[in-house]
Amino acid sequence: MESYSPVSKWFHWVTVVLMAVALPVGFVIQHVTDKQEGATKMVFYAIHESAGVTLFLVVLARLLWRLSRGAPPLPGSIPAPLRLAANTVHHALYALLLLQPLLGFFATNAWGFPLQGRTAYLGFIELPKFMEANEALAGQLQTLHTIGGWTILVLLVLHVGGVVFHQAIRRDGLLLRMV
Ligand code: HEM
Ligand code: HEM
Repeated sequence: MESYSPVSKWFHWVTVVLMAVALPVGFVIQHVTDKQEGATKMVFYAIHESAGVTLFLVVLARLLWRLSRGAPPLPGSIPAPLRLAANTVHHALYALLLLQPLLGFFATNAWGFPLQGRTAYLGFIELPKFMEANEALAGQLQTLHTIGGWTILVLLVLHVGGVVFHQAIRRDGLLLRMV
């Protein structure tokens, strides 16, 4: 069975690590309360937003690599419905991995909290702000960002569930293609 290239594997597992930071921290932020002028909460914002922007850059590079090099074909033993399911989930993940950070980025701009000062990218890179504060727009972008977060969670359950299904039930060793 043909494996993904080392570069593709590297991209995949870096994506996993960044997602393991961005997604849980995103869900947690709203529950962080602190009395020191929001100092602790700002750290959560900084981590979430820096992980998310980095994820965006990594996924952009990953997609360019994927589009130019392709992926190893799935083994012929895998039935058509499973191929369709896997491809659908992969496409949806790629689309949301690009869309979700953009929604977050423009939401922070619209809230009037661009990635500057205490939430500068990686703590020291001030990203430009694209608009003046606009609360109505910010609320809409934030709602889409929340829907995006839950959709990614569902897709990941399907994705990892798929891998477990291949390992435990079909026992076809598909996981080895990505490790
Ligand atoms: C793929 C990357 C990202 C994922 C998976 C993600 C996921 C999430 C999730 C799940 C939430 C909680 C939503 C809720 O329960 O209402 C959230 C909140 C938020 N995210 Fe992201 N996010 C990503 C990238 C970004 C980026 C790049 C930014 C900004 C530059 C950003 C800014 C925010 C903000 C401002 C909130 C609101 C936090 C709050 O005050 O409760 N996100 N994100
Ligand atoms: C423990 C977690 C994970 C495991 C075990 C895992 C495993 C795998 C495996 C085995 C494949 C190859 C499927 C094949 O043979 O065609 C794959 C592909 C893929 N994974 Fe994951 N994955 C995990 C988490 C994630 C996460 C968090 C993301 C994104 C947020 C992700 C996105 C993708 C994408 C987009 C592909 C398709 C690659 C391509 O064909 O271009 N995975 N994963």
